[in-house]
Amino acid sequence: MFQLKVNGVRLRQSIEELSKIGRQPEGGISRFTFSPADVQAREYVSKLMKDSGLAVQVDPFGNIIGRMRGIHDGLPTVMCGSHIDTVPNGGPLDGAYGVLSGIEAARTIHERNVPLEHPLEVVAFTEEEGFRFASFIGSLGLTGVLKREDAYALEDNDGLSFERALIDAGLDARSLSPLHKSPREVKAYVELHIEQGPVLDRERIPIGVVKSIVGLGELRVELEGTAGHAGTTPMSFRRDALLGASHIVLGVKEIVRRKRGAVATVGSLLVSPNASNVISGKVTLTIDFRDHESEGLRALQKDLIQLTRDVAKEDYLKARIVRKGFTKPARMSPKMMSVIITSARSLGLAYKEMVSGAGHDCQNMARITDAGMIFVPSLAGVSHAPNESTSRYHLESGANVLLNTLLQLANE
Ligand code: GLV
Ligand code: MN
Ligand code: MN
Repeated sequence: MFQLKVNGVRLRQSIEELSKIGRQPEGGISRFTFSPADVQAREYVSKLMKDSGLAVQVDPFGNIIGRMRGIHDGLPTVMCGSHIDTVPNGGPLDGAYGVLSGIEAARTIHERNVPLEHPLEVVAFTEEEGFRFASFIGSLGLTGVLKREDAYALEDNDGLSFERALIDAGLDARSLSPLHKSPREVKAYVELHIEQGPVLDRERIPIGVVKSIVGLGELRVELEGTAGHAGTTPMSFRRDALLGASHIVLGVKEIVRRKRGAVATVGSLLVSPNASNVISGKVTLTIDFRDHESEGLRALQKDLIQLTRDVAKEDYLKARIVRKGFTKPARMSPKMMSVIITSARSLGLAYKEMVSGAGHDCQNMARITDAGMIFVPSLAGVSHAPNESTSRYHLESGANVLLNTLLQLANE
């Protein structure tokens, strides 16, 4: 059977080009929402979309949407995409691979003049990683879960609002459209992503078909004690915020140890004044927590909040707890899994059904439409790090599975 295939060389070139934007001296990539690097990346992606035959729109959350008309253009759209923001000093593939493969798939369809019954849209979602404002802003906004005014009121660590940053990035909030997608407008959503774990690489399987995506939440805890002299303040007089934070770090580990399948991480501590001879007056820390079951996730959040309150009481600290995010686990649609499996089989590629321990915009899209995910192997399972890597063959194979999945969906 004739099989349409993407141009693998061109796909790798676009990955290489985008990876130069926001490149750090340490070797990784930092692209945070509406930063100069993000603005440059947005320009690059928008131009690539246009060159690939897509009409580009930006919505009020900053999502970039490239659209290809269908023969019956009023039919619900088939969508694919991912994100182009990164974690600090991150790798070249997390997010970018899904967006650029979607564009490459559209370009292949455009060049070959393949007719599509349904319209096709490729999306670059705003802030999936949550490093500057909050996780999943773009996909929560596009699906109508996050209201525009709530998104616009979000602030970064310097107190700058999302709205201000969006305007400073050259996006005029009033002229952007549309606001969000209704379930009736979207036929299906598929996201291609690197696995970010070791399973496919270890088992030498080129394609992962995702069954479910982990639910995740984030707490931001501000502990306030009293800054003081490290030499003259007796131990029993102290209100040491860093000591409290340490008790929380250890307590988090104890809590998840008792819960099968759950994970939790304190990945960021901001210590003030952060001087060797001063007792810490203030510490801000984050707790990222995850579970595959909604009930488990809620119970975990409750326990982590209780832990924080107990530590604050015990260590004579004030605690302010902000729930920064809470995204439910999502099951992928069996129909989408079967379309992805048919594509993989038709390309002669072995596959494995698996769960995702990483969060993805796809779990929000699953609230409004049939959603599915395709994984490709991550070399040694490394991700959220500069040396994130996937072989050429696997990058190309994943993009071909995406292309053939989109063709099936857009022409059924
Ligand atoms: C997204 O990258 C996540 O934190 O899982
Ligand atoms: Mn990602
Ligand atoms: Mn990520």
